[in-house]
Amino acid sequence: MPPLLAAAALVFFASTLVGPLGAATTASEPGVEQAVHVCDASNTKNWQIYCNGPILEAVNHLAIFNDSKSYVDMPIRLSPDETMAAWNKTFGATPPQNVNETELRTFLDEYFSPPGSELVNCTPSDWVPHPPKIMQITDPAYREWALKLHGIWRHLCKQIRPEIAQHPDRYSLLDVPHEFIAPGGRFREFYYWDAYWIIKGLIVSEMYNTTQNMIRNLASMVERFGFVPNGGRVYYLQRSQPPMLIPMVYEYYEATNDKDFLREILPSLEKELDFWHKNRSYTMTIKGTNVTVFQYRTNSNVPRPESFKEDVRTAQTISEAKKPTFWKDKASAAESGWDFSTRWFADHKTLYTIHTTRIIPSDLNALICWNYDILEYLYEQIGNMTASEHYREKRVIFRKALNLVFYNKTMGAWFDYNLDTNEQNTEFYPSIVVPLFTGCYHALNQGKSERLFEYMQDVGAFNFSGGIPSSIIKDSEEQWDFPNGWSPLNHMAIEGLRKSENAQMQDQAYRLAKKWVEGNYRVFQKTNHMWEKYDVIGTIPRPGKGGEYDVQDGFGWTNGAILDLLNTYNDRIKLQRTVPVTKACVAAVPNVLVMAACLLISVMGALMLTQKN
Ligand SMILES: *[C@@H]1O[C@H](CO)[C@@H](O)[C@H](O)[C@H]1NC(C)=O
Ligand SMILES: *[C@@H]1O[C@H](CO)[C@@H](O)[C@H](O)[C@H]1NC(C)=O
Ligand SMILES: *[C@@H]1O[C@H](CO)[C@@H](O)[C@H](O)[C@H]1NC(C)=O
Ligand SMILES: *[C@@H]1O[C@H](CO)[C@@H](O)[C@H](O)[C@H]1NC(C)=O
Ligand SMILES: *[C@@H]1O[C@H](CO)[C@@H](O)[C@H](O)[C@H]1NC(C)=O
Ligand SMILES: *[C@@H]1O[C@H](CO)[C@@H](O)[C@H](O)[C@H]1NC(C)=O
Ligand SMILES: *[C@@H]1O[C@H](CO)[C@@H](O)[C@H](O)[C@H]1NC(C)=O
Ligand SMILES: *[C@@H]1O[C@H](CO)[C@@H](O)[C@H](O)[C@H]1NC(C)=O
Ligand SMILES: *[C@@H]1O[C@H](CO)[C@@H](O)[C@H](O)[C@H]1NC(C)=O
Repeated sequence: MPPLLAAAALVFFASTLVGPLGAATTASEPGVEQAVHVCDASNTKNWQIYCNGPILEAVNHLAIFNDSKSYVDMPIRLSPDETMAAWNKTFGATPPQNVNETELRTFLDEYFSPPGSELVNCTPSDWVPHPPKIMQITDPAYREWALKLHGIWRHLCKQIRPEIAQHPDRYSLLDVPHEFIAPGGRFREFYYWDAYWIIKGLIVSEMYNTTQNMIRNLASMVERFGFVPNGGRVYYLQRSQPPMLIPMVYEYYEATNDKDFLREILPSLEKELDFWHKNRSYTMTIKGTNVTVFQYRTNSNVPRPESFKEDVRTAQTISEAKKPTFWKDKASAAESGWDFSTRWFADHKTLYTIHTTRIIPSDLNALICWNYDILEYLYEQIGNMTASEHYREKRVIFRKALNLVFYNKTMGAWFDYNLDTNEQNTEFYPSIVVPLFTGCYHALNQGKSERLFEYMQDVGAFNFSGGIPSSIIKDSEEQWDFPNGWSPLNHMAIEGLRKSENAQMQDQAYRLAKKWVEGNYRVFQKTNHMWEKYDVIGTIPRPGKGGEYDVQDGFGWTNGAILDLLNTYNDRIKLQRTVPVTKACVAAVPNVLVMAACLLISVMGALMLTQKN
């Protein structure tokens, strides 16, 4: 157990605050862990503005902004020390919960700039209006749409103002050397696993320099902090996201054959993998064998600054002693990218039972396996056979561990492992396709992938009109659950099935791609936006909902996944042109006249569409 300290900043609203600045003092309150903040003096000078302290607490207590993320994205006009001195002068030792709202607003206007003001838009230098790969999409409506999505890269391209290099401590933004594509909406900075699908799209757009820049930015984080943070802000310095950097380099290399870049970047890739080995591995004994596996597990155990209000509110009914673990499990779920989902809840229903750090996730481990596989391949490509062989061996051993821990012979699939019950979670989540997507099973064992396919059919995973939902557990109100479908999950499911040798699976891959693409297209026609998630049930596609913030438009990985699918199926995928009126005609059966008119309109509509093509 770490030394016991007062709950201090942890329990801000419970008024056990030790000092106005949330400074923890030594006191012993059994069972309460020492606070581990999301950033501190070891990695940034502005920690007392963005990761801890009275301003963060007062702003959230008074709910000055609807979105908790607004405040922590605001640059300060003076240095952190000068800002804190000004705070001390204005508010003295007033506890954050007693700060006067009018005076706080005045203070923010005086000492802070608006969120996002440190970033400017850019036009990527390798952007051209009609990239050949997009022009090869045969369906005219989809081609036109793909060109629009390709155009959106110019709106999502962000560059950090050069001034920030002079005073990096005045910004929560982490400086990166190159321009990048942001997800969009409230996500103005780079995000880690989003970048993989953004890159899939950039490759279809033939924007290889931008792809390289995205990779270099992430590698710069590895060099500076030893890992890739969840996103480009100081408040993400305690957590990562699914390890997709090595896969990004793989995609780039497959598209460009650029060996010089490989040689340059490989040391950073190894360093990143070291982080997962040193900081996120877990050794367990199963069936008498010791195996090392990986989990999402951050050290921070305080409210996440970008979701401060939500973390405090959701912890209200939790005892003081258990709050640190609750917040650690929430932040660890955020590291998984699945924030939040019944996948991480002990009861598979409610957030209050979240226990991410007691779960060994099958998808993360399948991704690590893929990382080994890719490194084996990339080292071979540059002729370093020793390193290549090293990763081959690691993968062979690891694949055995995966089967031991995650594979369920009765169900025919890989599932998350629960360290408390020593059982797998056999509920359906599309994360089970990741072993197929990453090819992390014996290639000769086609039977395993077919059984997984059968399992997915049996649970009805393919029975929804808009794609695969994130779970089939209803009413959790979490964004990574029913009825929301997400691009990365649908894309991995499609790719996992498509790469199989089984014709039925390939056929399902195509049908799923068709549904996903068409759903996204219909919503785009209606709203003129691409969204971070979609409601995949029902006949009228619409943006997703639920979770702790409003659904965001933009949207990097959604656009990337669509461009990749349109490219993969470029000569086959067609927009379904049955005019929706036809359905209404059936509904009008009792009224013969209305039905006749309706059918006439449908036929004319269809004829017009055919002529247009
Ligand atoms: C905050 O949300 C409320 C209710 O949804 C809305 O009326 C208000 O305009 C929002 N304020 C800001 C600053 O966005
Ligand atoms: C602000 O006041 C606190 C104590 O109330 C003190 O610890 C801190 O050093 C002060 N900060 C500055 C920059 O004056
Ligand atoms: C807050 O401060 C303003 C300006 O100093 C003052 O007019 C107001 O009465 C204060 N409100 C409260 C509740 O103290
Ligand atoms: C891409 O990068 C290369 C190498 O840095 C550079 O020579 C080239 O001009 C860039 N191309 C574009 C279109 O920006
Ligand atoms: C990883 O763990 C080591 C201690 O084992 C620690 O020194 C290091 O700071 C950790 N790295 C990160 C990025 O958390
Ligand atoms: C597994 O690890 C435990 C604890 O480190 C050790 O005591 C045991 O001998 C190991 N078992 C095997 C089979 O290596
Ligand atoms: C091969 O890669 C390993 C691991 O990065 C490195 O230590 C070694 O020096 C490389 N060997 C050669 C011949 O470049
Ligand atoms: C495998 O699945 C079966 C059937 O759902 C279940 O009874 C069993 O507990 C699972 N195995 C493990 C190790 O969880
Ligand atoms: C899914 O659809 C298939 C084919 O329509 C049907 O046979 C099956 O019963 C459905 N499964 C579920 C769980 O709804």
